[in-house]
Amino acid sequence: MREQTIRIMCLGDVVGRPGRIVLKQHLSNLRNEHDIDFVVVNCENSSGGLGIVREIAEEISSFGVDIVTLGDHTWQRKEVRNFLETSSDWCIRPANFPEGCPGKGWTVVSSKEGIEIGVINLLGRVFIGGALDCPFRKVQEILEGPLSNCRIVVCDLHAEATSEKVAMGRFLDGRISFLFGTHSHVQTSDNQILPGGTGYMTDLGMCGSSAGVLGMDTEVALTRFLTGIPSSYKIAKGSSVVSGAVAEIDVETGLAVSVERIFIK
Ligand SMILES: [Fe+2]
Ligand SMILES: [Fe+2]
Repeated sequence: MREQTIRIMCLGDVVGRPGRIVLKQHLSNLRNEHDIDFVVVNCENSSGGLGIVREIAEEISSFGVDIVTLGDHTWQRKEVRNFLETSSDWCIRPANFPEGCPGKGWTVVSSKEGIEIGVINLLGRVFIGGALDCPFRKVQEILEGPLSNCRIVVCDLHAEATSEKVAMGRFLDGRISFLFGTHSHVQTSDNQILPGGTGYMTDLGMCGSSAGVLGMDTEVALTRFLTGIPSSYKIAKGSSVVSGAVAEIDVETGLAVSVERIFIK
């Protein structure tokens, strides 16, 4: 059985230094314990809580992360534009950013065993601002175009609304291997295999401090809620979590055999 499957671990948003520290602490063990072939991690909050820069992406990659995905905070750091142009084979940004944006929204990589894996990053449009193309039409275009020969495909839909993530699950069921959501920083417990065989989980959760509010400092978050006065976020301190999922994929069919939750506190 195991020879015909590939095990892909996907982890939710890495938030600031606590997220990077906890990822480094656990990733190698997680890879061994769960017999992982390939790792995808959303890092849109990895640099100071908002965005990413080359040094941080390379640091995260050195922990044993194969592919980095991003989200609504992609453009937070100006220097990311150049970085995405030169590193789009392993660090991708949402594919439905408008034409002309730096970087790429999908990539194809080979596992150690030579199995090709397609990874797509999308950004939801419900309750998320900015000029965005339709994520549904965009993913269809990618699956029918550049990834049409790729049997194993995983997709990170970075989105606020659960309805949009569930709808995307229905849209892609039977067409990709594993669809997972990121962005909410709170893990859902609905890991499952959809009727058509696609692995699915609405949100992976995050890697970062669980002592604050979604990885950010409690006091700042409460001040914003209680007074409405804009104040800069700070990263929360305190104990951290690693959250995500492991999807086991049948190499022949490209469909999921299991989807297991990861949550380490
Ligand atoms: Fe986000
Ligand atoms: Fe996030």
